[in-house]
Amino acid sequence: MKDASPRAIYLKDYQAPKYFIERTQLTFELFEDYTLVSSVLTMFRNEQQSGGELVLHGHELELLSVTLDGQALTAEQYVANAESLTIHELPDQFTLSIQTRIFPQKNTALEGLYKSSKMFCTQCEAEGFRRITYYLDRPDVMSVFETRIIADQQKYPVLLSNGNMTHSEKLPDGRHLTVWQDPHKKPCYLFALVAGDLQHIEDSFTTMSGTEVALRIYVEPQNIDKCEYAMDSLRRAMKWDEEVYGREYDLNIFNIVAVDDFNMGAMENKSLNIFNSSCVLANPKTATDAAYQRIEAIVAHEYFHNWSGNRVTCRDWFQLSLKEGFTVFRDACFSADMGSSTVKRIEDATMLRTVQFAEDAGPMAHAILPASFIEISNFYTVTIYEKGAEVVRMIHNLLGADLFRKGSDLYFSRHDGQAVTTNDFVVAMEDASGIDLRQFRNWYHQAGTPELTVSDEYDAQKQQYKITFTQSCPDTPESDNKEPFHIPLQIGLHLQDGSEAPLHCDNDVDFNAKTSVISLKKPQQSFVFSNVSTAVVPSLLRGLSAPVKLHYPYTREQLLFLMRHDTDGFNRWDAGQALATDIILELADCVLANKALTLDERLIGVFRETLKQSDLDKAMVVKMLTLPSIAFLMEQQSPAHVQALYAARHFVKKTLASELHCQFSDIYQENDITGAYKPNYDAMAQRSLKNLSLQYLLESDREQYLSLAVEQFEKANNMTDQSAALSAIVNSRHRDTAASVLQQFYQQWCHDPLVINQWFSIQAGSDYLQGVDACNELLSHEAFDMKNPNKVRSVIGVFAGQNLRHFHAVNGQGYSWLADRIIELDALNPQIASRLLGPLTKWKRLSVESGQLMKLALEKILAHGNLSKDVYEVVSKSLAN
Ligand code: TRP
Ligand code: ZN
Repeated sequence: MKDASPRAIYLKDYQAPKYFIERTQLTFELFEDYTLVSSVLTMFRNEQQSGGELVLHGHELELLSVTLDGQALTAEQYVANAESLTIHELPDQFTLSIQTRIFPQKNTALEGLYKSSKMFCTQCEAEGFRRITYYLDRPDVMSVFETRIIADQQKYPVLLSNGNMTHSEKLPDGRHLTVWQDPHKKPCYLFALVAGDLQHIEDSFTTMSGTEVALRIYVEPQNIDKCEYAMDSLRRAMKWDEEVYGREYDLNIFNIVAVDDFNMGAMENKSLNIFNSSCVLANPKTATDAAYQRIEAIVAHEYFHNWSGNRVTCRDWFQLSLKEGFTVFRDACFSADMGSSTVKRIEDATMLRTVQFAEDAGPMAHAILPASFIEISNFYTVTIYEKGAEVVRMIHNLLGADLFRKGSDLYFSRHDGQAVTTNDFVVAMEDASGIDLRQFRNWYHQAGTPELTVSDEYDAQKQQYKITFTQSCPDTPESDNKEPFHIPLQIGLHLQDGSEAPLHCDNDVDFNAKTSVISLKKPQQSFVFSNVSTAVVPSLLRGLSAPVKLHYPYTREQLLFLMRHDTDGFNRWDAGQALATDIILELADCVLANKALTLDERLIGVFRETLKQSDLDKAMVVKMLTLPSIAFLMEQQSPAHVQALYAARHFVKKTLASELHCQFSDIYQENDITGAYKPNYDAMAQRSLKNLSLQYLLESDREQYLSLAVEQFEKANNMTDQSAALSAIVNSRHRDTAASVLQQFYQQWCHDPLVINQWFSIQAGSDYLQGVDACNELLSHEAFDMKNPNKVRSVIGVFAGQNLRHFHAVNGQGYSWLADRIIELDALNPQIASRLLGPLTKWKRLSVESGQLMKLALEKILAHGNLSKDVYEVVSKSLAN
């Protein structure tokens, strides 16, 4: 093992720091093969703690010197190694000066200070700062930072850090210095530094109290024409946070820098956000609508962190969801306000049910407030982010918008400048609203997805409808004894004519008539509704009002009824998904039993009806016409038979395409917009409907549509249409055409790495690529680079995570291939290696044969030894649980 016998750390062991750091003065001297870092720390003892020795964190550091109050320390006064610096005796207040040497050029982990193409940049969250200098690298130590950067002026004309630039000067030997001061106290994970030959675009924003803020986006020169949309998104996010949360920006400058090599999407460093270039750069020719939407959401997310994360930060990393769950909730509401709230909700619910529910049912299941971890980087998960956002959303819905706003105001004012816990957030919500959230807190420390089983009866005589809910939660590795959850369940009741029954319920404690929300709190609970004139079809869990699995024995007729009549747009869509899921699962059983497949005519009927409804929002039509994914279907089948699911789903898609090709063709023509590309909601919806139609047309049994796709590929004036045509062809049976358009696309775009990533991922996720040999060809392609996370994700991540048919090839080759790639990557970048393990953690969900082959792949990784903590934690927990 690289990190000798990794040990778990526990929330229950939390202790406040023994020392604080009032001021942090850093000097970086950047050279071509190493960097010198000097830090001067003004420190004092925490009077609440017993004192004693000071242990500073470090990671792979070379200590050059250390002085205390100007005096060099003697050998007896301290112990230093690459991972820590311990100083035995200290006065109450003191100044510590430390010099270290680091090697950013050799840093492939992309944590701490590293080089990305020609520039220097940093990534300090969660524990990257300790790779720069010895420090108290924990979020409850907040300090005022001053940063001096010295570098070659020609190679690195732009030198940036947090806060305001207060000084710059030329130095001898062609070098220069800039000094940055950040007046706000912050934990070191929000520290950032950038040095490079960068260009920027500039704009400004006047805050609600009239302060002018300079907004800049810095990129490498070739990307200067791709910054406008991020800037536009930033201005909209700033305005939205003022209007919806009353939050104003707090400095006169806000910078964004785009870098090519980045482990995640982006990072909210104080006033110097650093972004994965894929989450900032866009112009119509190179970026798809999906990329535009991602940029808008991530720019907003990082900006919103300025309050939910930076001004009020986390006490320790167990509290990560405090900032991430809340900020995801905030960015989801922002995106909903910029487009359609129903469509945004459908996208988020789909992802939650597909990815988060699977995580919650697997060996890495953890609560949004986890009890322990080995490596915190493994806990930047869909549970912390997305389920964390769901929990905040439930609080929002329980309190209502006004009280929620009172609660967030109280939270921000009470804790401004502090490092706090998720409990502090809930207490602020309770104090502001007077609403009791005691039982609600179970959502924070219990893992697992609660299940709701529903039964009902109608009494025609009494005109009463009785509905009974039973809740349970499966065991998870951290607990097999769960307390009942407080589950807010939004409902509606449909009478036989499709209209909604007025909801009269005698239980006015647990039923809120104003919002139609039932509060489930007990293991089993019944509700009686009176004055119900006919039997009803219930519409349950509207808008996915809680992150639970719901079981109600709907017949196909009832689902069709809900698709036609439900007033809740989300549930109309959901009924369609449930119908398609039921049909595909039944067909998958037929595949396994070697029976002939026939498609339930009613599904063709609903698709035909949907295609006719010209008054519907086109983005909604796309959602209704999209079949549930294989990944989602795998979660509904136990054990999951990937090949059977693929065959069944493919049969459904082909049949729909062949039956309805005339309708799809009409829709295609109607939505084929000419004119300049616009990244607005309606235009995006229209393009996505057109491109979904194209996909179906190429699935149909008619040959004539291939030329349509080729023509779209060649004539498109934007990347959305061009890549949609490419993808439709590459996933069709026309392999020769696929080969030639792939070739053409590469020739056209080989100078643009972000477009080439799309080229990689379209292939890696497609039916065109048949297995690991073809994957290896992509890996040895001249444009591939194992050190670049975006490329790794585009090929390895997409193949293992999305090309389920080929990844799950029955001979298990996909699994052992992935194991080898993970071993190879772990030596370069443990965070990325560990993230790629995701698909292998699901081995218990698969058929015995596949599961065993996957287990072998995990064992192969473990047997390799010399693993990072990151990979070790996921592999060992997957094999144990
Ligand atoms: N705080 C970042 C976000 O959610 C997450 C992040 C960015 C991150 N880069 C990282 C987390 C590297 C771990 C490692 O916006
Ligand atoms: Zn975040």
